[in-house]
Amino acid sequence: MSSGIASLLDRKVHDRDDILALLQCSEDEAPLLYRRAAAVRDRYVGNHVYLRGLIEYSNICGKNCLYCGVRRDNVRIERYTLTREEVLEAAMTAYNLKLGSLAIQSGENSSKAFIDTIEELVSTICRMTDNRLGITLSLGEQSRETYKRWYDAGAHRYLLRIEASSQALYRRVHPDDDMHRYQRRLDCLKAIQDTGYQTGTGVMVGLPYQTMSDLADDVIFMRDFDIDMCGMGPFIEHSDTPLGERGTDNLFLKERFNLTLRMIAIVRIIMKDINIVASTAMQTIDPAGREKAISCGANVVMPNLTPARYRAGYQIYEGKPGYREVNESNVSGLNLDLIPGITLGLGTWGDTPHYGRRLTGKR
Ligand code: 5AD
Ligand code: SF4
Repeated sequence: MSSGIASLLDRKVHDRDDILALLQCSEDEAPLLYRRAAAVRDRYVGNHVYLRGLIEYSNICGKNCLYCGVRRDNVRIERYTLTREEVLEAAMTAYNLKLGSLAIQSGENSSKAFIDTIEELVSTICRMTDNRLGITLSLGEQSRETYKRWYDAGAHRYLLRIEASSQALYRRVHPDDDMHRYQRRLDCLKAIQDTGYQTGTGVMVGLPYQTMSDLADDVIFMRDFDIDMCGMGPFIEHSDTPLGERGTDNLFLKERFNLTLRMIAIVRIIMKDINIVASTAMQTIDPAGREKAISCGANVVMPNLTPARYRAGYQIYEGKPGYREVNESNVSGLNLDLIPGITLGLGTWGDTPHYGRRLTGKR
């Protein structure tokens, strides 16, 4: 495996074996992979990091994913939903700080009230900001009609992680019932893409039972789906969940962290011009985690704008940073000294060339 990833990196097209070799390359060789990925990012989407102000709208969730602290059966968290005013205030903060776009995330809820409220919020935010603030939604599995209504209201990106592209692994980390079917998730992802959204997906890295082969297949899944955005993060145990009892071992977490860096770099090299998030879960394991992800090819960060008093309620995994990181003197929360050559893409939606090319069919 160590006989030079350099020649492998020079190939124009990478197959599954190449992906596996890169995932498993030696620690000595990994910096070469990372540097190549950063160079691909700079060449295809520029040396900018785009910002999405994150609003964690509600932690009320109808699902029961075995890994997640917000799952329905976790009675140890207090459930909240932001008020309309709180959402609009956070949106104006994003606008005034020139973050360029907003991401609204929430536990899964398909009630009529929820759907109507989101629709109204999206159109109000578009109106208030003269359509100058891009809106990403990450509100789980919904009907085609709902996706369309939110799109027509003005949202133009949607993020729905497939979580695990292997159907067998998906089953192992979700309850075996109709609310948690792999096929339904896949259908939703397709519906999102069909509706016209810039479509994002991603996986958790280091899930129990996950193999290197699964991760290689995840990369191929994302490539074949022709996604526009990718969000991946290391799995981090939450003790109030069924998968939280495995015991947290720092070394193991560090391995998941390093594996996530490799996944980011590989996805960048293979998909070149998509947006890739440096996730908060990376920062949870390593305070400089997001900066490291950017050094490996990521180009988006999501500074958290959720009002501070709700933060404890959105502990998807343990140790998620709860402080308010955004202010006028540091809108990204990043330590830019750690990522030389990177500039912040302020005041722009931060779209990539990929989406436009996907629509026109040009490669
Ligand atoms: N560790 C890391 N990421 C998690 N997510 C949920 N639970 C965990 C966990 N324990 C991720 C999922 C989900 C996103 C909102 O958070 O990928 O899509
Ligand atoms: Fe709900 Fe998402 Fe957590 Fe699953 S991962 S329990 S859908 S918030």
